[in-house]
Amino acid sequence: MKVIETISGMKKARQELGGTVGFVPTMGYLHEGHISLVRYAKSENTHAVVSIFVNPTQFGPTEDLATYPRDIPSDLAMLEECGVDIVFIPTPREMYPRRYSTWVDVKKVTEQLEGAIRPEHFRGVATVCNKLFNIVRPTKAYFGQKDAQQVVVIKKMVAELNMNLEIIVVPTVREPDGLAMSSRNVYLKPDERQGACVLYHALKLAEKMWKQGETDAHRIRQAMIKLIEEEPLAEVISYVSIADGDTLEERHEVKHGALVSLAVKIGKPRLIDNTVLE
Ligand code: PAJ
Repeated sequence: MKVIETISGMKKARQELGGTVGFVPTMGYLHEGHISLVRYAKSENTHAVVSIFVNPTQFGPTEDLATYPRDIPSDLAMLEECGVDIVFIPTPREMYPRRYSTWVDVKKVTEQLEGAIRPEHFRGVATVCNKLFNIVRPTKAYFGQKDAQQVVVIKKMVAELNMNLEIIVVPTVREPDGLAMSSRNVYLKPDERQGACVLYHALKLAEKMWKQGETDAHRIRQAMIKLIEEEPLAEVISYVSIADGDTLEERHEVKHGALVSLAVKIGKPRLIDNTVLE
């Protein structure tokens, strides 16, 4: 497994790869969710490339950029075991040299949910993914359904900028009790870790109501909110959304399916999760 830190080195190594390339962009501190993406990338392509880059431009000024968990030796051991061909670990200065000034700004689908709370977040995500796609030139890039809005934004960018790759979406990997795996789960204290399951339980409730024939989005949302409010450690509900899966516009009626997503602050971190009704 090659570990490469420079853009020129990564481009050169890419030129030497024949066949197809599956690419998994990450911010590191890898867990089974990331590894699931890597396994898909490995199984569907001749080569697998993974990037580890805690992208500063997608963090707001009051967010956890400085304290974001990092463990490169453990990440590399996991990727080596998966049989990854190349790990790209650029420095912030390599990706954003002095006087850096070019941005990719996807409108509309970035205005709600996470975008409403983190105003510049998706501009940073779209920009860094565009740059990484140009450097790695993958055949397919793999993203987790865990970050549903990120998937919508990246797919829209790829389609509208006519980018030459396919985006593959991989199901959310969960802990045995349903909590979606996330690098930020390390911030949870033991009792908060228990309480964090309320996100999953709220999504399961939405699925159950929908399967039983409930199509009124307001009623589903209210039932989810009531359940979350019963958990004392769920401090702030940022949003509970029932929206169109492509446009992310809120739905009143859920006839032909919807994306149900929510964000809840439990202790220090604000956790996100989602399910698709279909
Ligand atoms: P990061 O949070 O490290 O996640 C990297 C990829 O792993 C994303 O596509 C994310 O959706 C996926 N992922 C995380 N937890 C998952 C889980 N429990 N199940 C399945 N997939 C999961 O998302 C980012 O980094 C960044 O925004 C990035 C795309 C790398 C751009 O900087």
